[in-house]
Amino acid sequence: MAAVLERPESKPRVEPALPGRLRGFQSGAREIDDAPMRVHGTLPGWLRGRLLLNGPALWELPKGQYEHWFDGLAMLHGIAINGGAGTARYRSRFQHSEDYLRSIALGAPALGAFDTPKHDRWFTRVISPRNTDNGAVVMARIGEDWISMTETPMVTEFDAATLTTIGRVRFEDDLHIDLMAAHGFTDADGNWWNVGIQLGPKSVYRLFRVAAGTRRREPRGEIRVAQAGYLHAFARSERHALVWECALRAQPLSLRFSGKPYIRAFKWDAGGGSMLHAISLDDGSVRSWALPPIFCFHAVQAWEQGDEILVELITYEDASVVDDLRLQPLRNCAPQQVLPQLVRYRLRPGHSDALPELVAAGVELPQVHPARIGAGAATCMWGSGLDPERRATFLDRTVRLDLRSGERRVWQRPNAVQLEPLFVPRPGSAVEDDGVLLVPTLADGDTGGMIGVLDARSLEGLAMLEAPQVIPFGFHAAFEPAAQSF
Ligand SMILES: [Fe+2]
Repeated sequence: MAAVLERPESKPRVEPALPGRLRGFQSGAREIDDAPMRVHGTLPGWLRGRLLLNGPALWELPKGQYEHWFDGLAMLHGIAINGGAGTARYRSRFQHSEDYLRSIALGAPALGAFDTPKHDRWFTRVISPRNTDNGAVVMARIGEDWISMTETPMVTEFDAATLTTIGRVRFEDDLHIDLMAAHGFTDADGNWWNVGIQLGPKSVYRLFRVAAGTRRREPRGEIRVAQAGYLHAFARSERHALVWECALRAQPLSLRFSGKPYIRAFKWDAGGGSMLHAISLDDGSVRSWALPPIFCFHAVQAWEQGDEILVELITYEDASVVDDLRLQPLRNCAPQQVLPQLVRYRLRPGHSDALPELVAAGVELPQVHPARIGAGAATCMWGSGLDPERRATFLDRTVRLDLRSGERRVWQRPNAVQLEPLFVPRPGSAVEDDGVLLVPTLADGDTGGMIGVLDARSLEGLAMLEAPQVIPFGFHAAFEPAAQSF
């Protein structure tokens, strides 16, 4: 039997009661300790390991609430899969970040968030500024250590087996960054790479590396700009880190002093356009190309072809998606105003402009085979798709896209939300799409979250894993293979 931990602090005020698939935007998820999952269908025998999900799970507190999907206090979910035995087990824990502990004690959002204002007074913000460490967005490894984070430089370590919070990672350096991409990269040697921004009259993007087993952020390159753009991720080719400047520009004084929600201290500046910068991983040198104004969360990939660099980004023509992903429109099924577009940018030596080419539309949360990152072009990707006719208002399909031919394969459950499809390669196989996709879904009639297990090539459904509760909608996932996890 599942042991449900009825801790007083994990009991939220739940409102409103949402119907059907919209329950994924509702507070109320519990901490559950090692519950068996019903397995429908047949798991591949080779699939053994732990699927990790994080994401916001608690938006309503007794004396205040978060306003944006991205803002809820983070919960970690672990699903231990044993394909040979045909079994799966589920557990969940709130992350005990500083923000979580303070907000639960206060009964209201304590530190501010992506679209929730800061609670503290202005002189506290000036003398002792504090930002959220609510690790609801991305999980990654430094060596064997698991970390989670949002878009601030604060990183929290957790135990992947128990989901227990270990604590804040204390970096042993004096690197100055005020903001940090949620998505870094962990290379084959376990080193973690990421990009941060130091805000000022001129702002500086700083590429850094934390070697496995250390806590030191080693600077590897920097880009000086007049006004930094919103930063969520960057891309990696064989020999470069690719950083894009969104046209949603940071207002440093507002970020530091105003107490506004994080994203409301950025301004859309279409006239300034956007930029793509390539930082050499060999010597830190920087080359830059201009492009029309974009908003962008995620890259598909980047690679090099002769002396050119190609970068594929999921772009938006403006930043209205930020408003579309607030809780109220999501809970009211309001349609997204602007669909994402997959654009391939060609960065040519001797040219000041990037050359764009539209590849596809309506796909977000992209995935490629992890071994292709920094190792040449991937030829297929997977993502979560939106209805191009706008009949459905949220991510409702799983898409495999051939990046050469444009061929699209789709897996879709009726009346369901379908989130990021995490690609898990078959161990020992070098074929780019030899593996499975693990897809969190929730359909109107489901009693709990359903994880789809799909053949990554055909998109045939192989199995469904039924969780003992609704798993609130998160963004990204990670997989720890059995050799490390069991
Ligand atoms: Fe992301």
